[in-house]
Amino acid sequence: MSTLDQALAALRAGEAIGLPTETVYGLAADASRPDAVRKIFALKGRPADHPLIVHVAGADQLDRWARDVPEPARLLAAAFWPGPLTLILRKLPGVPDEVTGGQPTVGLRCPAHPMALTLLRAFDGGLAAPSANRFGHVSPTSAAHVRDEFGVAVPVVLDGGECAVGIESTILDLSGDTPRILRPGQVTQAELEAVIGPVESGADANSPRASGTLEAHYAPRTPLLMLARDALESEVTEQQALGKRVAVLALGSLPANVDGLALPADAAGFAHGLYAGLRELDARGVNLLLVQRPPDGDDWLAVHDRLRRSAAGAGIANDTP
Ligand code: TXA
Ligand code: MG
Repeated sequence: MSTLDQALAALRAGEAIGLPTETVYGLAADASRPDAVRKIFALKGRPADHPLIVHVAGADQLDRWARDVPEPARLLAAAFWPGPLTLILRKLPGVPDEVTGGQPTVGLRCPAHPMALTLLRAFDGGLAAPSANRFGHVSPTSAAHVRDEFGVAVPVVLDGGECAVGIESTILDLSGDTPRILRPGQVTQAELEAVIGPVESGADANSPRASGTLEAHYAPRTPLLMLARDALESEVTEQQALGKRVAVLALGSLPANVDGLALPADAAGFAHGLYAGLRELDARGVNLLLVQRPPDGDDWLAVHDRLRRSAAGAGIANDTP
């Protein structure tokens, strides 16, 4: 596994590296260098007009990337950074178009992983980093997942263990008149409102583009269906009667005589295991993945969001007969 020194050397040479954060692993490169940022897009196969998040060492970096930083941004950075919250702000003229997808805004986040923070402080700059998966695939939550995605194409991967949160950061747009959540995450609307007052949710026509807001994202190759527990158990019986192989991702416990995995029945525990669970079940080569529908409620909003997109994209790249 790679060392911090190797990571620093690779970043200074304009290369992309695998970077652990508390949400998911990132594919990181020097955000001030267009040539380095272009390598991220080439590796991911991501459309060039999709903006990247710039990871910074702390709130004191806000004014290095953003202009006219509003007071709510400073309050939120003080409350949630380091942590799983990305702030969309008006960018300074020097921020490369490669990072922002040509938009007048920039996404900033200070990650809570100790290895990422140590690296950012030593690097003394910003790291552009999308999740370290090929475009549309399930995001990686371990160093092994990053290797599975990119192999030798990304030789330097820092191993920071399993990501504590397991799903991507909450994205809050502060560049317009009203604060607006573009992507739900562990930091909830209520938690944001407790700090800055009313926040809207969901993109409108004027919102900046966010690739995490596309349907058909976070998707396994195997077709995926989400069902309530009862319906799921009957579906398993029906599929098995048809001679199909199914795998189940359940809450709390697996139904009897079924192949699959059970994740914790609380939102944080479920989110933590979700992507690793989807990857593991996807690798089993079954005909269908069945996911037990989680409960409703604010805590589960981000999980529902990711599951809906996983189901929308699942099976699209299915190359098994
Ligand atoms: O937790 C996370 O946010 C992870 C870790 C690595 O930090 N990163 C992540 O990156 O999820 P990515 O690229 O997979 O998703 C970043 C999202 C995208 O949907 C992108 O469009 C959006 O952030 N984004 C970045 N800059 C933006 C901007 N200026 N305006 C609107 N959306 C932006
Ligand atoms: Mg992503």
